[in-house]
Amino acid sequence: MSKRLNIAMLGCGFMGRAHSNAWLQVNHFFPREHKPVLKACYGREEDRKKLDEFAARWGYEIVETDWRKLVARDDIDLVDVCVPNHMHHDCVIAAAEAGKIVVCEKPLAMNVREAEEMVAAVEKAGVPNMVSFNYRRVPAIALFKQIVDEGRIGQVFHYRATYNQDYTISQDVPQGGMALWRLDSRVAGSGVTGDLLAHSIDTAEWINGPIRRVTAYTKTFITERRHADTGKVEKVDIDDACMFLAEFENGSIGTFESTRYARGRKNYNTFEINGDRGALFFDLEDPHILQFFRYADPQTGKKIEDHLTGWQRIHVTNFEHPYMKHWWVPGCTIGYEHTFTNSFADFLASLEGGPKFQPDMRSALRTQRVCDAVLDSARRGQWVEIP
Ligand SMILES: NC(=O)c1ccc[n+]([C@@H]2O[C@H](COP(=O)([O-])OP(=O)(O)OC[C@H]3O[C@@H](n4cnc5c(N)ncnc54)[C@H](O)[C@@H]3O)[C@@H](O)[C@H]2O)c1
Repeated sequence: MSKRLNIAMLGCGFMGRAHSNAWLQVNHFFPREHKPVLKACYGREEDRKKLDEFAARWGYEIVETDWRKLVARDDIDLVDVCVPNHMHHDCVIAAAEAGKIVVCEKPLAMNVREAEEMVAAVEKAGVPNMVSFNYRRVPAIALFKQIVDEGRIGQVFHYRATYNQDYTISQDVPQGGMALWRLDSRVAGSGVTGDLLAHSIDTAEWINGPIRRVTAYTKTFITERRHADTGKVEKVDIDDACMFLAEFENGSIGTFESTRYARGRKNYNTFEINGDRGALFFDLEDPHILQFFRYADPQTGKKIEDHLTGWQRIHVTNFEHPYMKHWWVPGCTIGYEHTFTNSFADFLASLEGGPKFQPDMRSALRTQRVCDAVLDSARRGQWVEIP
């Protein structure tokens, strides 16, 4: 039985494109009853030309520069929030109150207070909801999690994450406007902590369990930039770089580093786990490869033969690997855009009686708590417990 799912896309930028593509693609690769339809889209009046081009290219029927009008429409089933962080709170709450299914990009909110209100709203309305921590649906990352859950890493001692980029090194990069709203704390909430480390924290807690406490250091390298909206030079107070230490509840310790000033790094999202039985390493710039070091058998605890120890590079494209049986033949890779398709496939499955989708907003609230604790620790120069 086929069920039409009319989508209102809030945002016509990077994520507007990534999500539109995934909604169009999902039924072609995953058998699902729900049939997403790109019904309506929103962008700012300032971005009207981009919005019209976006609507024409992706086939949206209705174009709006007032997002509230779209959310209120009776012919919309699902609201997909792909606008900057300062709008997530109001968009999600309005969508929930209108009884819509809600998808929201990460980070869930500007801060924990907003996130708590959003969780309360979706739970009160009883609407299905998801937060787009799409990296959980990179096949190699899903396999990373599977191998940890199979006990092949054993007792974990270390977790090490980096998320580095280099696109804000020049003083000439303005703040404000599409993409560069990330440099304006009033719109982004925070710098690399909410933008990049939110991903690293979500993945870390998913794989290695809850973080108990953190101690952090942040740095703003360039403190004034021209604002694209006002044309004036204005203060910049986002964290350009953030490093923190973490203690996990399982007794392991972690280091997290993120910056937009790592010359040469574009989307260097890496993480490694080291346990007594093995280790794993992943790098998003090499997304089909999972590196695995096998030291001991998970069942017997016995060390594997000496001549077979060493790092193994698993090309994660076999039918047995997460998500891959839905795509091409073994050896053929998929890409960044497929992480969104895989996410929507799982989300639609959850609407059709499958496993509850994670992360939902309640789960993303947890990530928001860690982000807020990291920023609080950097301000106070102290360890901060996660409530
Ligand atoms: N899951 C991921 O890996 C990932 C990747 C990129 C972005 N994101 C998240 O997606 C959301 C949207 O990010 P994006 O990169 O698509 O943004 P973008 O700058 O490419 O697009 C922004 C959209 O919001 C509208 N908008 C409304 N108010 C605005 C303002 N004050 N400044 C700029 N644009 C404004 C614009 O018209 C446009 O439609 C953010 O929450 C971001 O953190 C997630």
